[in-house]
Amino acid sequence: NNSSASQLVIFGGTGDLALRKLQPALYKLQREGLLDDVTTIIALGRSANSNDNYRSQVKTKMQEFLPKHFWSEQHWQAFAAKLRYISLDVNTLKDYHVLADAIHQYPNSRTVFYLATLSTLYTSICRNLHSIGVVDPRSSVVLEKPLGHDLASCTEINHEVLQVFPESNIFRIDHYLGKETVQNLLVLRFGNALFGPLWNSQYIDNIQITVAEDIGVEGRGNFYAKTGALRDMVQNHILQLLCLVAMEPPANLRADTIRDEKVKVLQALRPITVDNVKAKTVRGQYTAGVVKTTAVSAFLDEAGFEDSSNTETFVALQADVHNWRWEGTPFYLRTGKRLTRRYSEIIVELKKHPFSLFEGDPNDLPNKLVIRLQPEENITLYKVNKKPGLGRQLKLEQVELNLDADIHDELQAHEAYERLLLDVLEGDQTLFMRRDEVEACWAWVDSIIDAWQNAGTKAKPYSAGSMGPNASLALPEKSGRSWHE
Ligand code: BG6
Repeated sequence: NNSSASQLVIFGGTGDLALRKLQPALYKLQREGLLDDVTTIIALGRSANSNDNYRSQVKTKMQEFLPKHFWSEQHWQAFAAKLRYISLDVNTLKDYHVLADAIHQYPNSRTVFYLATLSTLYTSICRNLHSIGVVDPRSSVVLEKPLGHDLASCTEINHEVLQVFPESNIFRIDHYLGKETVQNLLVLRFGNALFGPLWNSQYIDNIQITVAEDIGVEGRGNFYAKTGALRDMVQNHILQLLCLVAMEPPANLRADTIRDEKVKVLQALRPITVDNVKAKTVRGQYTAGVVKTTAVSAFLDEAGFEDSSNTETFVALQADVHNWRWEGTPFYLRTGKRLTRRYSEIIVELKKHPFSLFEGDPNDLPNKLVIRLQPEENITLYKVNKKPGLGRQLKLEQVELNLDADIHDELQAHEAYERLLLDVLEGDQTLFMRRDEVEACWAWVDSIIDAWQNAGTKAKPYSAGSMGPNASLALPEKSGRSWHE
């Protein structure tokens, strides 16, 4: 029993997230020798299941989702030996005693509770863990997003969880913060003198963040029908990206210093109101269509749940960061399901010079910095060059400067969840959201939901396989801009 040992307890252990993301990430950490201090991984689920059955369930999913070159029977055996399954109904206190016995088998190890369930269950789980006496000052808890449904429910959950765990032991996860390029964004901005002086509304015309997905709701229709794209993607992932692009340079890299700067950006977001909701937001829902040559059905046919007729599967927004640095630079945000293809990128479009020597040349275009998060990870600068040749008149052409790091080693490629799980085990909160941060995100998102409700905003249809409703194109066009395609 060594004192740095940990046990990991996963609520929602048979859920989609645990099987598709968490277990593969843990297995990869094991493979790299980074899980030696984890004695057991206890997965909890409602159904009765044996340890062996659960292990084979995990193995099947892993072989389906993990790239083949990561698979090794020997590493799997070592990993599987740590896996345990306990059946438990989260609302039934007496079910927790088996869990308590399992935890007490390793009295010196620290316990990490990973709540990969609906956030409506977090309060009950924390209270029950507290009642059975398995939470001590070293225990920590990981909370999956979305945390609540609006500001009021989020505040309530935070309040309840804080009765059991101190803020310093709460890890509110947003897996986008674990992506390689998202972290590289900080280095790009604050490690290169080239960009710093230009990073404000004097030089930047607009910023765009697109998180496009080609998948539909993938068997999560029930959850998704009540959630929608704004709560599922904007409240967390997209606002986190916006914060990292827009925040002031932090004084150091400590978790709270960075989080202080992010909160300031969120507080500067101008609320959406019923008066500007039409000009600044677009809500969409996919109808049947073709995504990459495959015919797919409409959201309503896939989801088929009550009250889903106005659930948005697409949203485009103009966000205004109302502060000294950004006043006058619009941030265009969009995300959706069943779009043309899967890609996420941040575009920083610079202003043109006030006077151009090359006016009239169709390639006399503004500089753009394209930060691609997925599927590839790279950073490209669009600049103009002289088109080689002898002609008397100078002709321009667009060229792309590739600002990438070294070529990726496939075996070195890490998933966001690997980095974040490791940070949880090591107690580093930098890439996790603090209470005030999540609540500030909800405050802005609530302003949009209220405005939609008060204005009676309907989700506009778009064909699966397109890039959203036409109104989305019109959003930047109102001010003579356009989405980067
Ligand atoms: C999740 C959303 O947080 O992020 C899903 O709930 C979405 O709806 C997923 O598909 C996208 O993550 P990634 O890493 O594939 O871009």
